[in-house]
Formats: sequence, structure tokens, C-alpha cells
Amino acid sequence: MYGVYSTLRLLDPKFPRTSEEPKRIGQRHAGAKKMLLLFLLALLAGAAAFLLFKFATVVDGDLTLVSRGPPRRERVDGKVVWITGASRGIGEVLSMQFANLGAKLILSARNKDELERVKQNILSKNPDSRIEVLPMDLSAGEESLKQVVHAAESLFSNAGIDYMIHNAAFERPKRGALEESEGGLKATFNVNVIGTINLTRLLAPYMLDRGMGHFVVMSSAAGKVPAPGQAVYSASKHALNGYFTSLRSELCTKGIKVTVVCPGPIETPQSSAAASSVQRHSSEKRVSVERCAELTIVAATHGLKEAWISYQPVLTVMYLVQYMPTIGYWLMDKIGAKRLDAAAKKGNTYSWNLIFGGKKSA
Ligand SMILES: NC(=O)c1ccc[n+]([C@@H]2O[C@H](COP(=O)([O-])OP(=O)(O)OC[C@H]3O[C@@H](n4cnc5c(N)ncnc54)[C@H](OP(=O)(O)O)[C@@H]3O)[C@@H](O)[C@H]2O)c1
Ligand SMILES: *[C@@H]1O[C@H](CO)[C@@H](O)[C@H](O)[C@H]1NC(C)=O
Repeated sequence: MYGVYSTLRLLDPKFPRTSEEPKRIGQRHAGAKKMLLLFLLALLAGAAAFLLFKFATVVDGDLTLVSRGPPRRERVDGKVVWITGASRGIGEVLSMQFANLGAKLILSARNKDELERVKQNILSKNPDSRIEVLPMDLSAGEESLKQVVHAAESLFSNAGIDYMIHNAAFERPKRGALEESEGGLKATFNVNVIGTINLTRLLAPYMLDRGMGHFVVMSSAAGKVPAPGQAVYSASKHALNGYFTSLRSELCTKGIKVTVVCPGPIETPQSSAAASSVQRHSSEKRVSVERCAELTIVAATHGLKEAWISYQPVLTVMYLVQYMPTIGYWLMDKIGAKRLDAAAKKGNTYSWNLIFGGKKSA
């Protein structure tokens, strides 16, 4: 504080020099220090409130993901990207965005006509794109998958697959865990888990030979946290997470990368099967399918191992279950029955009301 005093005296030669002065200036200075501290605290509280507000309203992914920049084009340009479930929904938009980044595409799903439609649509906007259509059924058994993998590897003059986007999935309307039939269970696991794993087992050896390859797995928030009304679907996505995080830990030193993407509710067009077969409420706040595809490519090209894409309240539930499971599961237990109820009444199954509302909320 004497430093301040001497500076002031330097600036103003008439500055008082009595022995009283330094003390008073010191007191005044302490007051200013307090004010400054208060001001900084207020600023910090304001910033925290602002960030919390953002987190509650506009943040649409986990904080690692949303702090990354745009997709890295150089990681995709000229690469071969094989996308399953490319005939509609998230897969269709992913295909368009990968094409915009210069990728060579292989589009797969069961419906060949729909794949052709997607291909023509991309070509009409991006005439230079290189796109092949490769129809396949993930649940058709190993022999058929073997042929498909061989065909995919041979396309684009045997270039081989750089990115395998496991996006196809089978989803049933929401219902209680004990109401799901064995048929529903088998159909879900055959496509979402066994077919996807079989495809991976057949493709990975080619990638290992080249010493590189990247699996991008469209899992779900239901693969991370309880999903009342979707127990079987949730089980299939948990299975995928378990398989692919294990696979990565085995093969990461051999050039194999894995990105597990866990979207919450996504606004796919009404033409989508999930949209027509799964009840949806207009007040559900869903991330747009374009943004979901963009963040998926951000996660893959920035080499993220896992990425969550969702608005609230699902994003908070994911954070709680991951970092404070006791609280997260307690919260989900409050929600479970109400969510089943909401699904039965075709109400909002992603609402804050499920947490804060009364028993009858939907
Ligand atoms: N939409 C969401 O809110 C949401 C949220 C979280 C996670 N996800 C996940 O994101 C991915 C895409 O979701 P989406 O809503 O876009 O799905 P979608 O509209 O239902 O499309 C599913 C895609 O998978 C294909 N498919 C289904 N069964 C198949 C089979 N046996 N063999 C090969 N392909 C098959 C479908 O084409 P064909 O019928 O022609 O075969 C279609 O292209 C899924 O993994 C889903 O679980 C979606
Ligand atoms: C997966 O592969 C096994 C053989 O390894 C085969 O028995 C089974 O039918 C295949 N399932 C699907 C759904 O592809």
C-alpha cells in the first residue's frame, strides 16, 4: 500500500506528506479491496448463473463435445464411410453431411429403393459425390453379412472401409419391461446387437490388416441410463456400449478407433419408422436431426471416445447417473412409473413434469 502512496505522490507533487496520511490512504485502500472482491464475487456468481442457464436451455451435448470446434474435414475428405440405416432418419442426414465433407459413401439398409432415393438426393445437391448403394439385412445371418462385407471392401477400387457407422437399429413402441414379447426381444437383439457385432467381427480383420479403422456406434442415452418403457431397447444399447468400449481397449494400439454416440430424443422427420411407430409428443424438446448428425461427425473427427447429444432434462440425468449414481437412480425411480403412464397416454416422455409434477402428470 505504500507503493500506492508513493505512486500517487509521484503523480502529484503536492500530495500530502503528513504522517497521518499513509494510514488513511491504507484504510481507504482496504475498503477498495473489499469492494473489488465483492465485485469479482458478483461477477463469478453472474457467470455461473449464466452458464447454468445455458446448460439448462441451449446446451445440446456433453461439455467435452460442445466445447469442440466444427467437424474436421481433413479427417473425412476422400475417406470411405460405410453407413448402416442410411435410408432415413439420422442415417440419411449423416450421409448427406459426410458427402458434404468429401467422403466416399456406402449406403446400407434393407430397402434398396429408399437408399437410391437418398443417393439421388445427395447427388442433386453434391454432383461430385461418390456414392454406392449396398442393401443388406443385419439380421440375415453370417453368410449374408460375409458377402456384404466383402462387397463393401471391394468398392472404390478396393479402398477399404475407413469409417464404419453402425447406425441401423430396431426400436419398438414404448411398453413395460414385462409386456415385451420374446419376438420383440429377439428382433431387437438380432439387429441392434448380434447383427452389429457380427458385422464388426467380419470387418475388423480387414481394418487390422491396414492398421486403421474407425467404428462410430449410434448408441443412445438409453445405453447409459435407465429408460423406463424401453427396457429391451435400453438393454440392447447397453450391450453395444459394453462391446465397443471393450473392443476399443483391446484394439486401440492396433489403429482401431471407437466413438460411441449416445443421443437422447432427436427430432427425426415424421417419415422415420421410429417417428411413426413410437409415440411422440409435440412438446418434447428434441435436438434436430441435422445437429445430431453434425455433433456425431464432430465426435468422430475429433477422436472422442464417447459423446452425449441431448437437451435437458435427459442430459442432466445422464450426468447424474454417470457421476452420482445414487442420486441418478433415485431420480429415475421417481420417474419410472410416471413415464410408463405418459407413454400409455401418448404424452411427453421426456418432460420435467415427470420429475417435478404430480403422479398424474403426462
Ligand atoms: N431418433 C431418435 O430419437 C434416437 C435417439 C437415440 C438414438 N437413436 C439411434 O440412432 C439410430 C438411428 O435412429 P433413427 O431414428 O434415425 O432410426 P430409424 O428412422 O428408425 O431408421 C432405422 C434405420 O435402420 C435401418 N434398419 C432397420 N432394420 C434393419 C436391418 N435389419 N438391417 C439393416 N438395416 C436396418 C432402416 O432401414 P430399412 O428399414 O430399410 O432396413 C433405417 O434406415 C438408431 O441406432 C437409434 O437407436 C435414435
Ligand atoms: C451371427 O454369427 C453367428 C455365427 O458366428 C451366427 O450363428 C448367427 O446366425 C449370426 N447372427 C446374425 C443375426 O447375424
